[in-house]
Amino acid sequence: MTSQAYLSDLFSLDGRTALVTGGSSGIGRAVAGALARAGARVVVVARGKEQLADTVSELTAQGAQVSYVAGDLGSRAGVRAVAEEAAGVFGEPDILVNSAGINLRPPMGELGEDVWDTTLAVNLEAPFLLGQRFGPGMAERGFGRIIHVTSQQAHRAFVQSGAYGVSKGALESLARSQAEAWSPYGVTVNTLVPGFVMTPLNERLASDPEKVAALAARTMTGRNGLAEDFEGAAVFLASRASAYVTGQSLFVDGGLSVH
Ligand SMILES: NC(=O)c1ccc[n+]([C@@H]2O[C@H](COP(=O)([O-])OP(=O)(O)OC[C@H]3O[C@@H](n4cnc5c(N)ncnc54)[C@H](OP(=O)(O)O)[C@@H]3O)[C@@H](O)[C@H]2O)c1
Repeated sequence: MTSQAYLSDLFSLDGRTALVTGGSSGIGRAVAGALARAGARVVVVARGKEQLADTVSELTAQGAQVSYVAGDLGSRAGVRAVAEEAAGVFGEPDILVNSAGINLRPPMGELGEDVWDTTLAVNLEAPFLLGQRFGPGMAERGFGRIIHVTSQQAHRAFVQSGAYGVSKGALESLARSQAEAWSPYGVTVNTLVPGFVMTPLNERLASDPEKVAALAARTMTGRNGLAEDFEGAAVFLASRASAYVTGQSLFVDGGLSVH
């Protein structure tokens, strides 16, 4: 067996279909590209059409099979509409990546019901509803991969975690519940846990060089994360190679969480 054949047997996503929420920016965009280059047909979901179209044209130019569905994951009706439209593009997904997320940071004492509701809707309820929509089908077909993107704030407070930390902590619990339900049928469910990653989500913090340097110093690798740091872990968790890994939180954070 050649090394190429061996690697392909373990990690190839040829013939798989994937849905990546938040696939037009940051971590989701890098993960969508990685899954597509590994062979999957990928549908990316977000609100902004311009960035979605830009993502699709960039990846298509690399030879990938990628399409987009524009929609708002902030309401139940929005999630349902997105799910149906996305499943109509390449068929029911084998791989679901929940990377869409928002981080609004009012001080705890000023955190209103609007921020609470919006945060939990996008960060927690959308992944739950998409899981309900696609998990049972994956289990019936005997193969599935659900990958949530959480945060160090699922594990500790960091810069006014507020409702965001709550949503991410609950998302890790959701992953374990989904893993418990569907792992006997070939569906693994895991979370990728970023530390501090230089993406548009962190624009405000990232524009302060002193803070950026201080955060980098807290890692073991001496630098902050980049979206492409998630590519290898995502392909692993989406592939046959991770069949016995489920209900886990995989920290992709340069050692930040253990330093
Ligand atoms: N960057 C970090 O340091 C960091 C750290 C820990 C965890 N994370 C997590 O990693 C994930 C990705 O973050 P990122 O840094 O890559 O952020 P990003 O660059 O801001 O990307 C967020 C993506 O989510 C989409 N999105 C946001 N609200 C949406 C909605 N209501 N409906 C549909 N799509 C929506 C955005 O597109 P539209 O705005 O066009 O809808 C965009 O594609 C998030 O879950 C975040 O919480 C990031």
